[in-house]
Amino acid sequence: MPDTKVIAVVGATGAQGGGVVRAIAAHPDGGFTARAITRKPDSDAARALAALPNVEVVQADSDDEASLERAFAGAYGAFCVTFFWADMSAEHELAQARNLAAAAKAAGVRHVVWSTLEDTRRWVTDDRMPTLQGKYKVPHYDGKEDADAAFREAGVPTTFLRTSFYWENFIYFGLGPQRAEDGVLALTFPLGSSRLPGMSSEDIGKTAYAIFARGDEFVGKTVSIAGEHLTGDQLAESMSRALGEEVRYNDIDPDVFRGFGFPAADEVGNMFQFKRDFEAEYAGPRDLDFTRSLNPELQDFDTWLAANAGKIPLG
Ligand SMILES: NC(=O)c1ccc[n+]([C@@H]2O[C@H](COP(=O)([O-])OP(=O)(O)OC[C@H]3O[C@@H](n4cnc5c(N)ncnc54)[C@H](OP(=O)(O)O)[C@@H]3O)[C@@H](O)[C@H]2O)c1
Repeated sequence: MPDTKVIAVVGATGAQGGGVVRAIAAHPDGGFTARAITRKPDSDAARALAALPNVEVVQADSDDEASLERAFAGAYGAFCVTFFWADMSAEHELAQARNLAAAAKAAGVRHVVWSTLEDTRRWVTDDRMPTLQGKYKVPHYDGKEDADAAFREAGVPTTFLRTSFYWENFIYFGLGPQRAEDGVLALTFPLGSSRLPGMSSEDIGKTAYAIFARGDEFVGKTVSIAGEHLTGDQLAESMSRALGEEVRYNDIDPDVFRGFGFPAADEVGNMFQFKRDFEAEYAGPRDLDFTRSLNPELQDFDTWLAANAGKIPLG
């Protein structure tokens, strides 16, 4: 396919990158092929990607800039994401982002879509929540905007894609409903009455694909996306309908959440408190109509639940 442009996709066996690869495979006439990057080309996940049309699988590690440069060679575009939850270190994420930016520059990549989030410290300027990892409020947010500079300083044409909370967190991240002492399922986190911008992680990939397909339109711009903005009560109401059983929203104090004791409870508690206290600043830019204009298949929460409610573990 001599006329197609290669998009190198970091994190291809994961949620966001996998969505980008599947979006490219789903558009055989879209003018792109995917180069799916993995550390383990022999894994089942990598083999499943290799079986898709218009997809090749290559090996690289985001900790190894030279391997990224080889993987990016000849590519028109690169979808770049870092992996905060691998070791929960914002400094490690920053180092990986620097490797990605330097490799993209060296390989002459013409368009990077960088999956990022905003620096909450712009709004959280007081001591309402603890400082984590020495200087962050929400490390997996703050470190990502810090890393935006790596792409700017490298001089790589970049779209800064600000994503949202995955609804898959209700399946895989321990944030699903737990049975309370009275036997009723409850969603428990400190969101108050604010709305949580959320989306299916698969839609992040579809939207990134659309950004590549629009050419240079969003280069140098920040694009903020979500599938729906819902309060805790609204999330619980939708879950009740989808599960056929009452789910209630249990609003708690952020300090109580931070004290739950699971790894990163403080980080996740800070994240919800930020979204609770700065709803307008956080949800406002994540325009749903704009996101849908990029990705017409964008799911709302009820649509996502229709396909996924059965996977939510009921504690
Ligand atoms: N959960 C949420 O609600 C949410 C919302 C917005 C943003 N985020 C952000 O999303 C990011 C993670 O993206 P994701 O959810 O798509 O990840 P994921 O599903 O956990 O997948 C990560 C993939 O990346 C690969 N990987 C891990 N370390 C690597 C390395 N050193 N070099 C190359 N590849 C590596 C792994 O593939 P191999 O093993 O095949 O190499 C893995 O399959 C995090 O930084 C998080 O903060 C999460």
